[in-house]
Amino acid sequence: MPATHDNTNEVNGVDPRHIAIIMDGNGRWAQKRLMPRIMGHYAGVKAVRKIVEYCAQKNIEVLSLFAFSSENWRRPKDEVSLLMELFMTTLQAEVDTLDKNNIRLRIIGDKSAFPEKLQEKIRLGEAQTQNNTGLTLVIAANYGGRWDITQAVAKIAAAVEKGELAAQAITEQLIDENLVTANLPEPDLFIRSGGEERISNFLLWQLAYTEFYFTDKLWPDFDRNQLEHAIKSFKSRQRRFGHTGEQMVGIKNA
Ligand code: IPE
Ligand code: IPE
Ligand code: MG
Repeated sequence: MPATHDNTNEVNGVDPRHIAIIMDGNGRWAQKRLMPRIMGHYAGVKAVRKIVEYCAQKNIEVLSLFAFSSENWRRPKDEVSLLMELFMTTLQAEVDTLDKNNIRLRIIGDKSAFPEKLQEKIRLGEAQTQNNTGLTLVIAANYGGRWDITQAVAKIAAAVEKGELAAQAITEQLIDENLVTANLPEPDLFIRSGGEERISNFLLWQLAYTEFYFTDKLWPDFDRNQLEHAIKSFKSRQRRFGHTGEQMVGIKNA
């Protein structure tokens, strides 16, 4: 008799196309070393470099990194302005390297709140790398999931107001196309470092069916081994999207 096959434990096995990360724990990493919090952010940038390199090598399609939330303005003024400065200098220093490595850069979030000089750097960085065909690196800066949905709704409402669109024509797909992540695949794997287990207003709509992975590692200590571990965990799960486990096996073998 053939061994009974337990379909419900079937794993998805495939690599994630899109990985989204909340890079948390920089401040605590520095404080543990009796250093100012900003030193943790500097160390965090180094970790970003390694993770971007890894994803590019492994042919991951999209890597989205939460760098600054719409709520992070609530931090002490000094930390906010140092973070802006770090964003600016990092952008300036890294765009050529990204470009050389065929990486496409995209910044999502309410950029209008940034100093004009920074906005200009963002435009230039995106333009320089827009035709690259390797990894798409999405940096979420002054991003909030609620802001994203709100701006999509406002755009759609404006079209309805002008008579260009009927209210009945509003579909999930239309909302999707009006989010700032339009044209990107949905995140397959969501990772949060730093021990907290919450979304903190990251990609709310887009994470509907994403697999979650939390780790206590503080972001500056997050390296390729950690990422490999997260990917391994992702691959060991069965994604069902509302189906039964047995159905998914059928779909996979079809
Ligand atoms: C994440 O690290 C980076 C940003 C929010 C800019 P934190 O600065 O939140 O680090 P902790 O959570 O205070 O340790
Ligand atoms: C989320 O981290 C935002 C970023 C990593 C950019 P926070 O440290 O701001 O999140 P909370 O405040 O602990 O939820
Ligand atoms: Mg934090």
